[in-house]
Amino acid sequence: MLIASLLKKELKRQQETLDLIPSENIVSPAVLKAVGSPFINKYAEGYPGRRYYPGNAIADEMESYVQNLVRRVFKLDDSYAVNVQPHSGSPANLAVYLALLEPGEPLMGLELASGGHLTHGHKVSATGKLFSSVKYFVNPETGLLEYEAIADAAARHKPKLIVSGATAYPRTIDFKKFHDIAKGIGAYAMADISHIAGLVAAGAHPSPFPFSDIVTFTTHKTLRGPRGAVIVAKSELMEKINKAIFPGLQGGPHLHSIAGIGAALEEALKPSFAAYAGQIVKNARALADELIRLGYVLVTGGTDTHLLLMDLRAKSISGKQAQDALEEAGIIANRNTVPGDTKPFDPSGVRMGTPSLTSRHMRESHMRLIAGYIHDVLVKRRPASTVGRDVRALCKKFPLPY
Ligand SMILES: Cc1ncc(COP(=O)(O)O)c(C=O)c1O
Repeated sequence: MLIASLLKKELKRQQETLDLIPSENIVSPAVLKAVGSPFINKYAEGYPGRRYYPGNAIADEMESYVQNLVRRVFKLDDSYAVNVQPHSGSPANLAVYLALLEPGEPLMGLELASGGHLTHGHKVSATGKLFSSVKYFVNPETGLLEYEAIADAAARHKPKLIVSGATAYPRTIDFKKFHDIAKGIGAYAMADISHIAGLVAAGAHPSPFPFSDIVTFTTHKTLRGPRGAVIVAKSELMEKINKAIFPGLQGGPHLHSIAGIGAALEEALKPSFAAYAGQIVKNARALADELIRLGYVLVTGGTDTHLLLMDLRAKSISGKQAQDALEEAGIIANRNTVPGDTKPFDPSGVRMGTPSLTSRHMRESHMRLIAGYIHDVLVKRRPASTVGRDVRALCKKFPLPY
């Protein structure tokens, strides 16, 4: 019974708070239903048509259909193949490296404090322990990727694979430039578009196709699906990658999650999804512009995407203090390193994004209101209880769809 009451409490918490964590979102009732469906009961080790368990005719049809939806949403040509089984983004990335690199071989990714992800070769991640990891950085002054410097680093270190993509980079990524850098040294070009998959699907961020040998993405961020991940790779690489997922890293696929990914992709094919993704970006810009107007420093001076990164070094407050003060008022945003930070546990920034707010149908005017609440908490020191009252009133007007 405790779980039932905790489910209710968590729904109430989500209803009554503003979720600005850019890697989170609010799934549709159709996605929620698919994830809570009887597919959860089924084992299906293997791939469609090649299962190690009986009773999988419908699972085969479903998984093949979801693979095909990925092809349609991302407009893939026949040179690419799709795997929808990774349980999440981290095993997806590890599987690609295990498939294409020998242990100890070099891979290159964006440094953590520059906005890279742990699975891009950070030393505490299996990806940094099993492989020799080399880094590229954003410019510490501008916060921007500098492609000439990345090309120099690639020429110096000769990685076998270069990962583009980030977890806290607010600007457009030029996948063609990454492709050219990788091909210039004979490396694989991999794009991890976990954060921006929904934007790419909707044309609100340039696509990494056809400029990548491998593309990975989580399905639960801007794509608005359940927790899970997808790997798309050039067909000739996929046999190795399939084997690295199963039996290499995983056992039975989570068919219920795959069904949920399918439900999200069906939604992503609708014209309304393009408007939704466009609104995510407009909302992020409105939030960024208003925060700048209120005197905040944003890394790179703004955003092209769904997220922004506040640099609090000029304010007398740390990222953690800001995160905690905002949470007290019902505003959920996570502390984050900013370029040049050296202590990941005590970073100087806060990362904010608009996918969840946009899923609740909020628009630019609401972003300006929310920027004002943030300012009330961080600078004006208005009591959390009174800001919290305003936050709850706003939340009530934009309920979750269940
Ligand atoms: C760019 C990127 N790649 C991979 C991941 C890992 O995904 P997961 O948390 O599902 O393992 C994340 C998660 O935030 C991410 O931002």
